[in-house]
Amino acid sequence: MKRAGGSPTVALNAKGIRMKEEGIDVLSFAAGEPDFDTPEAVKAAAAEAIRRNDTHYTSAAGTIALRRRIVRKLWEENGIRASEDGIIVTPGAKPALYAALMSFLEEGDECMVLTPAYPSYRSGILMAGAEYVPVPLRFEDGFVVTREMLEAKVTARSKMLIVCSPCNPTGHVLTKREVHDIADFVLEHDMLLVSDEIYEKLIYDGREHLSFGAIPEISDRVVTLNGLSKSAAMTGWRIGYSASSPELARVMLKMQQNTVNCTASFTQFAAITAFDCAAETERMRQSYLERRDLICDGLNAIPAITCPRAEGAFYAFFRIDWRDMSAGELADTLLDKAGVLVVPGTAFGEGGEKCIRMSFAADRASLQEAVRRMRELFA
Ligand SMILES: Cc1ncc(COP(=O)(O)O)c(C=O)c1O
Repeated sequence: MKRAGGSPTVALNAKGIRMKEEGIDVLSFAAGEPDFDTPEAVKAAAAEAIRRNDTHYTSAAGTIALRRRIVRKLWEENGIRASEDGIIVTPGAKPALYAALMSFLEEGDECMVLTPAYPSYRSGILMAGAEYVPVPLRFEDGFVVTREMLEAKVTARSKMLIVCSPCNPTGHVLTKREVHDIADFVLEHDMLLVSDEIYEKLIYDGREHLSFGAIPEISDRVVTLNGLSKSAAMTGWRIGYSASSPELARVMLKMQQNTVNCTASFTQFAAITAFDCAAETERMRQSYLERRDLICDGLNAIPAITCPRAEGAFYAFFRIDWRDMSAGELADTLLDKAGVLVVPGTAFGEGGEKCIRMSFAADRASLQEAVRRMRELFA
């Protein structure tokens, strides 16, 4: 535990909440949280489940009804030939990530991570006793990964690679070429691949989400992570899942049996309904897209800032070249001088230097006001 960090985004978000409570004028864009309500049909399904006393333990892997619905979703939408015994329903995608790391990593193993990356990957790897090996991607190249970059970091101890597409924080969506390079790489080096697909539904400009678990040559070595936090605005419900071969799932299930036991029963029931809320998800995606353009256009009009259009997820990940300041100094300056709370790019590891992550899952007025304040500050 000493080796692991706390979550910088969770800590910064708490700081923003505290400042607001103290009456300080702060606009907070630190959280990774949809700003929509959970669809009404999902709430109604949960209430109905509670009323009929569906409030007890379920099997550790999740109810059969929900696992069947997930299997159907994976076949239809992702091309993943999953089966019920390869699915574990978890309280959010995070516990599925931890189950994978704790199950398959041990002291002496190395786990590669494409960075900038979600900070919990690094912490989880260290908590599992393994070594964290970043593969830094470059802002200038649009955070594209190449086979050469992966080969430069691989050793005989490399056991696992973690990828996230669409990516938090960079917004990059892996292309077909990158997906196939990564697949060939893990196959040739006999590694496991953890594919975090939690933002799959939030993807823009006609790009396509590709699932590693759908590639037959590697499907037995892929653990797919997903959930409803982002796609159905259900962060507080805690509902996620892993999809893998039944062999890998059997190992990971021990983690679930011995820790959380199972995901909340009525949440699982409501989740079945959430898989049928495609129209709501699409409305949310459209709205994020409009706000992405609002924030990018506003920030790119400031000479010090370069803000690429996120290909997916709901974060602007932009670079500020100003007085040679580091990402941390820039984030501090934005908070102290403009009352704008954002996350320094370096909180996501190597490759985030001079960068800032700002969620655009915020109301338009706040986004516009943040741009105005930043324009004034950098002028
Ligand atoms: C990349 C990524 N993976 C996983 C998660 C965790 O999601 P959940 O709320 O389902 O645990 C998040 C949440 O911010 C995320 O950004």
